[in-house]
Amino acid sequence: MSEFVRIHEVGPRDGLQNETRIIDVAQKVALIDLLAQSGLSHIEVGSFVSPKWVPQMADSDRVLAQITPMHDVRYAVLVPNMRGWEALAAARVSGVRYEVAVFISASEGFSQSNLNCSIAQSIDRLKPVVAAALGADVALRGYVSCVTDCPFDGPTSPAQVTDVVRRLREVAPMPVSLGDTLGKATPERVQAMLEDVLGAVPPDQLAGHFHDTGGQALRNIEVSLALGLRDFDSAVGGLGGCPYAPGAPGNVATEAVVALLDRLGYQTGVDPDVIAQAAEMAKGMR
Ligand code: HMG
Ligand code: MG
Repeated sequence: MSEFVRIHEVGPRDGLQNETRIIDVAQKVALIDLLAQSGLSHIEVGSFVSPKWVPQMADSDRVLAQITPMHDVRYAVLVPNMRGWEALAAARVSGVRYEVAVFISASEGFSQSNLNCSIAQSIDRLKPVVAAALGADVALRGYVSCVTDCPFDGPTSPAQVTDVVRRLREVAPMPVSLGDTLGKATPERVQAMLEDVLGAVPPDQLAGHFHDTGGQALRNIEVSLALGLRDFDSAVGGLGGCPYAPGAPGNVATEAVVALLDRLGYQTGVDPDVIAQAAEMAKGMR
């Protein structure tokens, strides 16, 4: 029996958040519902952030209300603060499995740009969100951005990533997705970063989140696999970017990750034909 690797689909959130043309709720819902039929177990569908900062995600409550929930899919949303948690609490539909994603940065420059506060302040701000999610029995996941490079501060040291991951997991144990936000990481630097983080956190608690600016994302996934990671984020059709990371284009494409993992002999449970249809749909939204 081949080993299982989980794919976290982030296209409807990380992918679409950067599109300047506002995409209809119906189109987002159609994409999410198609993705849910592919066998993906985790789909990130929106974020409850300030609509002034990320206008594309301002309709996340309507997206949650209109998707056709699949029992075996967990629907993830980004929540930056208690205001976001309250919006999620009001929007969530009974019986649906959600995941709250809290997000911080390994670099101070990106923290200021993305969250308008320092790393320490962002960790304080997410503490009540984490407590609320745990109290409501909602799954948690953490994101750490800029794990190799920051658009403002330059290269990020591996020790800095380990320190931030450790501080995040001191709030509550949670899996942490390590973000190459700019897509500039090389396999060598990913390896050095992971070796440091793995000194503090086991591989089953880590995920790789690679943007593909430099065309190295698949090689970075291979390096991460060799170090024991079995959870990767990707966006169908290679959608993506980040409004607060100038120069960051798409996430690694889900269809490419599924093909890579299949070629390497891993199981994903994801149907490549359905993903190919979803990739066509996603590309039509750009
Ligand atoms: P702020 O300006 O520092 O805080 O924003 P504030 O409390 O002063 O709020 C400003 C305004 O936003 C106020 O409205 C608040 O009410 C409102 P005003 O009084 O001006 O009319 N507000 C909210 N509205 C809706 N929902 C909320 C909310 N909170 C405040 N939850 C804040 C702080 C975090 C809210 C802001 O900085 C923000 O929304 N940032 C956006 C962050 C974001 O979504 N970034 C993209 C996702 S992260 C990413 O893509 C990286 C990742 O993919 C991994 C990787 O690749 O590295 C995860
Ligand atoms: Mg991202």
